[in-house]
Amino acid sequence: MTFKKGFLWGGAIAANQVEGAWNLDGKGMSVSDVKMFKSNVSVEDYAAHNAVTSESIKTAMNESGDANYPKRRGIDFYHRYQEDISLFAEMGFKTLRLSIAWSRIFPTGEESEPNEKGLQFYENVFKELKKYDIEPIITLSHYEMPLHLTNKYNGWADRAVVDHFVRFSVACFKRFKNLVKYWLTFNEIDSIVRHPFTSGGIVLDKCPEGEIEQTIYQALHHQFVASALATRACHTIIDDSIVGCMLTKLTTYPNTCNPKDVYLSLQSNLNNHAFSDVQIRGEYPILFLKQLELKGIEIKMEKDDLDILKSNTVDMLSFSYYMSRTESADETLEKAAGNTIMGVKNPYLPSTEWGWQVDALGLKISLLELYDRYRIPLLIVENGLGAVDTLDNDGRVQDSYRIDYLREHIKEMKEAVELGVDLIGYTSWAPIDSISASTSQMSKRYGFIYVDQDDHGNGTLERYKKDSFYWYQHVIQTNGEDLLYTL
Ligand code: BG6
Repeated sequence: MTFKKGFLWGGAIAANQVEGAWNLDGKGMSVSDVKMFKSNVSVEDYAAHNAVTSESIKTAMNESGDANYPKRRGIDFYHRYQEDISLFAEMGFKTLRLSIAWSRIFPTGEESEPNEKGLQFYENVFKELKKYDIEPIITLSHYEMPLHLTNKYNGWADRAVVDHFVRFSVACFKRFKNLVKYWLTFNEIDSIVRHPFTSGGIVLDKCPEGEIEQTIYQALHHQFVASALATRACHTIIDDSIVGCMLTKLTTYPNTCNPKDVYLSLQSNLNNHAFSDVQIRGEYPILFLKQLELKGIEIKMEKDDLDILKSNTVDMLSFSYYMSRTESADETLEKAAGNTIMGVKNPYLPSTEWGWQVDALGLKISLLELYDRYRIPLLIVENGLGAVDTLDNDGRVQDSYRIDYLREHIKEMKEAVELGVDLIGYTSWAPIDSISASTSQMSKRYGFIYVDQDDHGNGTLERYKKDSFYWYQHVIQTNGEDLLYTL
């Protein structure tokens, strides 16, 4: 058998994309509650789409409904979690990765005591998971910081947010110490440089003039410190806890053997690894610091920051992998879309309906690269295909394209394990259709379970098992040995 006994097969979701109930039981507004629906955002307009402004926040705060803000409604996991978890259990899930909405626990982020109803909700969810022996893997920050912290501090730009985050983390560790062993601090911590609002609560018009990059990297430093402090607290409060960092793995290829292309791809890979380097090695890579210095960016650090980073490194590396990228020095080449970042089109790879280039072998390359670099356990916490699915009259969704995508990726992951990579689990994104992080579309579906809801919130919210549901169930049943199951 390739995968060890106890391999963590499952799926991954995030509170802001599934829960809904954005203003129930004391929950405060979060940054995701003010992200407006815009159909089919291309990566080229991604920055513009994400440019939430002080003005657009005001407008959103004055709107009481969810018509324009799909993440406010999610897929109503808040009320349907029992049904959804029973479906995950039917597929045989060993784990579910999910996040805790910070603003459900500390509505503004600044309260001194947590909101009991928020804690109770997650306790119920975790107990429901335990009923089926499903191990929760919890992300503390997945694009859903309290909006108040954005309005008051410009999000992570202000050091004050570190203490607020640590207080939130400690409240979670204390309450869930007997229910949760696996914790991830920041989802795709590198993404703050691509979408500073979603990831860091930073509104660009609130940054000092000419200091946008300076603000973003300062905020990133605050997140690194907060992550290290949360790691320390977790290790102290929960004896056998395992804490991970979480990286968007953006493996980049040179378009040709032209050294200029190779150099660009090297730079891109070094930049990508810098984020995990800080959290795993406990220090900023020299080349990364030099790069910031050359850009005129100066990270302000408090006296103990470097010690905090050094003494509180993570136990494992989790990452998302959807695609690879290709870099070229030739600026005239056709571009390809991607997970909030563009590259040039790789002629050897097909693309999804959203233009993300599909590269299963790239997953093996990424696994080998990461394991060779860090030699700590790896966990794939996101991988999947966003596609338009059709529910037919018999309530069936024939998503063979999704099965093909996942099969090819799992095949490569298996080979990486055979080559010696210590991989402890795989949670596909997302086991149930949810609101897309980047576009807020419902029509970009990833699930094994179809949810009857359209982009505008119409539908019964009923759940249907897609063909991929049965395929993944068989994959888990055979511990990844048989990937060829057909209905
Ligand atoms: C990852 C995020 O970047 O990509 C998820 O962590 C997100 O939250 C996933 O949903 C897929 O992206 P999208 O934009 O298609 O939902």
